[in-house]
Amino acid sequence: MSFYVTTPIYYVNAQPHLGHAYTTIGADILARHHRQRGEDVFFLTGTDEHGEPVARAAEAEGVTPRELADRNAARFRALMPQIDVTNDFFIRTSDPEHGRLVQEVMQRIHDNGHTYKALYEGWYCPKCADFKTEAEIAAGNTCPIHGIPLEWESEENWFFRLSTFQEPLERLYAERPDFVMPETRFNEAHSFIRSGLQDVSLSRAKLSWGVPVPWEPEHVFYVWFDALLNYYTALGYARPGEDLRDRFWPATFHIIGKDILKFHTVFWPAMLMAADLPLPEHVFVHGYLLMRERAESDGQPEGELRKMSKSLGNVLDPFEIIENFGADALRYYCFREVSFGQDGAVSVDGFAARYETELANDYGNLASRTLAMVERYRGGVVPEAELDPEVTKDFDDLAADVASLLDRAELTQALERIWQRVRRLNRYVEERAPWQQAKDEAQAGDLDRTLATLVEGLRVVTVLLHPYLPASTTTLLAALGQERTDYEAARLGAGGSGARVSALAPLFPKLGAPTRTRG
Ligand code: ME8
Ligand code: MG
Repeated sequence: MSFYVTTPIYYVNAQPHLGHAYTTIGADILARHHRQRGEDVFFLTGTDEHGEPVARAAEAEGVTPRELADRNAARFRALMPQIDVTNDFFIRTSDPEHGRLVQEVMQRIHDNGHTYKALYEGWYCPKCADFKTEAEIAAGNTCPIHGIPLEWESEENWFFRLSTFQEPLERLYAERPDFVMPETRFNEAHSFIRSGLQDVSLSRAKLSWGVPVPWEPEHVFYVWFDALLNYYTALGYARPGEDLRDRFWPATFHIIGKDILKFHTVFWPAMLMAADLPLPEHVFVHGYLLMRERAESDGQPEGELRKMSKSLGNVLDPFEIIENFGADALRYYCFREVSFGQDGAVSVDGFAARYETELANDYGNLASRTLAMVERYRGGVVPEAELDPEVTKDFDDLAADVASLLDRAELTQALERIWQRVRRLNRYVEERAPWQQAKDEAQAGDLDRTLATLVEGLRVVTVLLHPYLPASTTTLLAALGQERTDYEAARLGAGGSGARVSALAPLFPKLGAPTRTRG
């Protein structure tokens, strides 16, 4: 079984913010989960470096596009290990191998008769690098996404005959209801297609920062054609001397934000059809992280909730959060606070609240109490005992549920299922009150069973949480004397008894606590 997951490649006209970390962590959770299942996984992320948005940002800073790209690509690359992201390759569209493969595929599209040359005129958003149709123009002739004035552009371009893919795309949507997920986004893409497709310009004559069009070398490819192809080209050169395309193409999941839905759910499948290439299995479209434009202060009302974006300045800096709370807490918060697929507000206060009540109390305390009790009452050795059916029945379908939710990239629902069990185990501690059982020698067998059940339940939730919280779960499993993190280990009873546990410093130290043991 192979599993190939991608993130968008991020524009190097700005530094990474939490929105970029969000998508990338989401893809990482899926990649890690599928590795747990023993699948052959490839996980791609990277940077989108060509085109107008980058050329303009470079000009504004008085540097060359390449200088700007090098500087910001390095920042995106550095983000990955800091958020514990395990990408298998980092593509930069300025890689010469990428450019060559873009030319190869686009030449095939050209040879197949899907292009023509014509005059282009229209309203253009330089930040989207996109011409807007009538329906996409906001009040005052502005971009509905960036709120900036659109620009009238007119030039001789090469065009892609997108309109001729209307029918094949409608067929695709009729045949594959899970091509785009979740369903609301499927419907959005589907109705965009049904409303009628216009041809799109595929080259730019005025720009030189891009991949040259092989049959018209004065033009470069319109950045979206170059960018979308990264998902395919990367497999051609990520492993020198090896062509991964047979092994991993078509992609299993493209994870994207809803701002780039049209490109991935309409242009991209049409391009692949035009090039005679197989289509990806799923495009999962998540929503926006929203933030207030400014916090309430000095009697000033709070700002409006808006999409977190560099241009609005309402961004959470992932590097700062990691510094203060660790990567696991960031990874957890994003998918707990905002249902993956929907828009949702994030804030520093919300972050602190979930850290305290859920990570530190629900999970962290459960772990320290459990280990401390095994230490105190059973000398640190997990007792041998039949597991309590009261708990086992609540764990029966857990691993299978989590896997099937993650097969649909339902990251928040899967996490919720696991967290219900974390809470179940906390209730179990209260119900059984092991500290009472310990006072009565006649209840030694009951105490054995309580402790064995707790340790085993804690181990199972920890294995399932591993893709979300890779660092703290690794620490905890080591303390439980059970290091397996594969999916088979996520079954109650798979752990067995007799393990020797060791003491554990708080996994999620109280906020403001002076020392942190976790790296
Ligand atoms: O669009 N909430 O790059 P980009 C959630 N280069 N996700 C967010 C977000 C937010 N507030 N802000 C950004 C591009 N994102 C193109 C993509 S792909 C072939 C080319 C995430 O730097 C989300 O994944 O503008 C969104 O789709 C992506 O960053 C846009 O990144
Ligand atoms: Mg953007």
